[in-house]
Amino acid sequence: MSPRKTTQEIIQEKTEQRLRRTFDADLSPEVDGRRVLLETVDVIKQYRQYDQVVTAVNRATFRVFEGEFVAIVGASGSGKSTLLHLCAGLDRPNAGEIYIRGNRLNAMKPDELGRFRGSYIGMVFQTHHLIPHFTALENILVPTMLCHKSEMSYNENLKKLVATLDIGDRLHHLPSELSGGQQQRVAIARALINMPQVMFADEPTGNLDRENAEDVLELLLETKKLLGQALVMVTHDLGIAARADRVYKMDAGRLRPWRRSLDGELPGYHGEE
Ligand SMILES: Nc1ncnc2c1ncn2[C@@H]1O[C@H](COP(=O)(O)OP(=O)(O)OP(=O)(O)O)[C@@H](O)[C@H]1O
Ligand SMILES: [Mg+2]
Repeated sequence: MSPRKTTQEIIQEKTEQRLRRTFDADLSPEVDGRRVLLETVDVIKQYRQYDQVVTAVNRATFRVFEGEFVAIVGASGSGKSTLLHLCAGLDRPNAGEIYIRGNRLNAMKPDELGRFRGSYIGMVFQTHHLIPHFTALENILVPTMLCHKSEMSYNENLKKLVATLDIGDRLHHLPSELSGGQQQRVAIARALINMPQVMFADEPTGNLDRENAEDVLELLLETKKLLGQALVMVTHDLGIAARADRVYKMDAGRLRPWRRSLDGELPGYHGEE
């Protein structure tokens, strides 16, 4: 006969069940036969600086479908990184709603949100945010630890990422012993290790030379195709934006659809305006 469960164990079990219900329910709505993996509705983020209020994101409303690559362009300070952080659940908006695969981020408690992010969201930061006292390999594996993934489940993906990103001989070094480009490639491996359904990348090729930038872009597009991911990328590179399915422009916190002309040129955008 199995021993009776303690109150602690029962609470633990109930919590696990609740978390599983939150995570496993794929509530992605369908629009025109396509699954919506990311949706924001009237998202507002304001920062207070002394007696001034900065509205970094002003009623951003957009959708990204399964398998879609959406680029976000805009001048420095227009709110691109803030919007990405909100969508990735790294920050909470002052108003509005954010849904990832139909799951409402605002409704999640911090621990739920942390685990949800680890399972379904990948993020490459503008400044890569590697943990300084972890080696490159340990940094890459952080999301697997947060989600209690077994080595068997990620080993093959790890090998592929290390080979594609050419970081095999740097794995046991600390971030301070890597070049800027190598640090960025480690950060990209970390974002992809759990094979997330929704991928955010904030100028992922900003620190890279042309050849490495092309490799990273190919990896992100290939992974998107393989996993049917929604990929949202902030970029100043018009060549990259021209390869997106759709482009949005951020202008003083306002997000607007930005049409591409037929030849792939992006009229009216001059980078750092
Ligand atoms: N933590 C913060 N506290 C106060 N203001 C902030 C904070 N983070 C961002 N801001 C302000 O919000 C606005 C948008 O910043 P954000 O970093 O999102 O811009 P960005 O479009 O990513 O710019 P860049 O292209 O230079 O990376 C800016 O005016 C910035 O100064
Ligand atoms: Mg930014």
